[in-house]
Amino acid sequence: MAGPLGTHTLTAGRGLLFGGDYNPEQWPEHVWEEDVELMRAAGVNLVTVGVFSWARIEPEPGARDFGWLDRVLGLLADAGIAVDLATPTASPPPWLGHRWPGTLPVDESGHRLWYGARNQFCPSSPVYRERALALVTDLADRYAGHPALALWHVGNEYGQICHCDDSAAAFRAWLRERHGDLDGLNEAWGTTFWSQRYSDWAEVIPPRRAPYLINPTQKLDWARFCSDALLEHYRAERDVLRERTPGVPVTTNFMGLFKPVDYWQWAPEEDIVSNDWYPDPADPLFPVRSALTHDLTRSLGGGRPWLLLEQATTAVNWRPHNLPKPAGQLRLESLQAVARGSDGSCYFQWRASRFGAERFHAAMLPHAGPDTRLHAEVRAHGAELRRLSEVAGQPVPARVAVVHDWPSWWALEEAGRPSDRLTVPDQLLSFYRPLWERGVAVDLVPPSADLSGYALTVVPNLYLVSDEDAAALTAYVRDGGVLVVGPFSGVADPNGHIRTGRFPAPLRDVLGASGEEWLPAPEDRPVRCAWADGTPFDARTWTELLRAEGAEPVAVFTEGDLAGRPAVLRHRTGAGAAWYVATLPEHDALAELTGRALADAGVSGALAGPPPPGVEAVRRGPVLFLLNHGTTEARVPVTEPAEDLLTGSRADGTVTLAPRAVVALRPLA
Ligand code: GLA
Repeated sequence: MAGPLGTHTLTAGRGLLFGGDYNPEQWPEHVWEEDVELMRAAGVNLVTVGVFSWARIEPEPGARDFGWLDRVLGLLADAGIAVDLATPTASPPPWLGHRWPGTLPVDESGHRLWYGARNQFCPSSPVYRERALALVTDLADRYAGHPALALWHVGNEYGQICHCDDSAAAFRAWLRERHGDLDGLNEAWGTTFWSQRYSDWAEVIPPRRAPYLINPTQKLDWARFCSDALLEHYRAERDVLRERTPGVPVTTNFMGLFKPVDYWQWAPEEDIVSNDWYPDPADPLFPVRSALTHDLTRSLGGGRPWLLLEQATTAVNWRPHNLPKPAGQLRLESLQAVARGSDGSCYFQWRASRFGAERFHAAMLPHAGPDTRLHAEVRAHGAELRRLSEVAGQPVPARVAVVHDWPSWWALEEAGRPSDRLTVPDQLLSFYRPLWERGVAVDLVPPSADLSGYALTVVPNLYLVSDEDAAALTAYVRDGGVLVVGPFSGVADPNGHIRTGRFPAPLRDVLGASGEEWLPAPEDRPVRCAWADGTPFDARTWTELLRAEGAEPVAVFTEGDLAGRPAVLRHRTGAGAAWYVATLPEHDALAELTGRALADAGVSGALAGPPPPGVEAVRRGPVLFLLNHGTTEARVPVTEPAEDLLTGSRADGTVTLAPRAVVALRPLA
């Protein structure tokens, strides 16, 4: 889990962190002084500097120009603003790709991706590695002990994939580690299928563009390798920093449920877990999606405080049609992250760029300048975060775990499956939403987690599962846990091979049920179901032909070939209970089912009852956050007298929340 340094070295004496990416290299020096003055006025106490400054620091191979950065860091240090200093290795200068084209990434069709944007590097290129580490070494030596240096920011949003020959060589080395010899590889990849047997390691390549469906295990291993190859590069930079500046925490900014990178493997390699999050204002479920993402980020760090490192004050520039955020939304979204464990709230970026691909991306200081509605909101928010200082470091305890696994995600969404309508992000959100609506705190966990501290564990989908993890889930229920498993789980082994026998083979005993056919449903028709008392509900997209083997069918399909067959089962076994959901129930039905499973587990939410619709309720340490994401005023009963830390006012009996209002209630002693 996250290393020993944690956020407290940052928040000590500062309280919650507030700031953003600062790209002074885009501006003449006289602007820097104005920047720092405005930052102070806004309560900014942390800025991320240098993310895209490689070409400025190293204008030609081997040269170094640190003078400008010395002056920037000096100004910030004098103003008492801490610096999250980036290794600028996410965007190499054009000279690197021009002189060493092998450093540029190659796509699956063999096309080289050129400079002119960013991220143009091959994670397995020795030249890129060497040049990056030389620069990182000099950067660390230059700023070791600098009073502004508070945090290292390695690279940016790692996710680059490359199919070149260097990557192929690194992939082969990785495969030898995993599978031993060629026989092991042939076995794991199932190469007797379609005459794919490899007779020489030199034949083994990344999944490059091919005439038809590519071997799914080759792709699964490739996804594992790509995440690991980036991690290896991250580690190499981090090790240089740790050696030269021990005591300065290291982070790299994650992207929530980002498919290409297995963050369970990455997070333990950081001192602080940080995330970039840009909810889409056009998505009606974005408050739920945000909460899920924040819970994931906190969970990646083992529950320790994390940092929301980048978000937008209003519209981004990279969707086709970029909706702005209404007044008050910036504050609501920021406080939502704080409520869910972030020790601060930072933005991309401080000052809006005049040029470049992100010239229309919102910032803390818009093109129109400080005399604007937006900047006034930014300042007001900076001031109010100071009133929440005591929240820094506080945990968000949860008794419910939701399982999420990257390799299972990769394997599930591989081509050539029964339906591409069943996806991991959708299933996660569907099963998470009823918990969020009830104000039930949730941790995300990998399937190998120790679940003994959780009363309820929800597995929205676990298509791929190892024997050990399936056995642990079984033991969890035997020992008193309540388990809810979503459809099409327990299907494949870690090589992505289908487990034979009635499904889900490794979970059959614990679920007390088994199946024989997966039956995707026509999309234009609901799947009709009913609870045991006859109350109907609809599901969609997916059905399974199951039989109970000790479990009680709590809902059945009511139409077609499956009429009368189980749709949802509950199995009391050992000291616990296991639920299996063999379809995608509509939201209200899944909420009903979740309520029953919570009752089985004896878990309730942050409030005595569910909060009003649209209101999020979450406890961080002693503080109860209530956030109104709805469009109408909401009245929330609170049982204990409390003080709203944001306003200093007293709350007793009922709290009234206007749309987008937030309270942070600390019980009065
Ligand atoms: C991410 C990146 C930033 C910027 C923003 C735009 O957060 O890290 O460099 O591109 O996206 O939304």
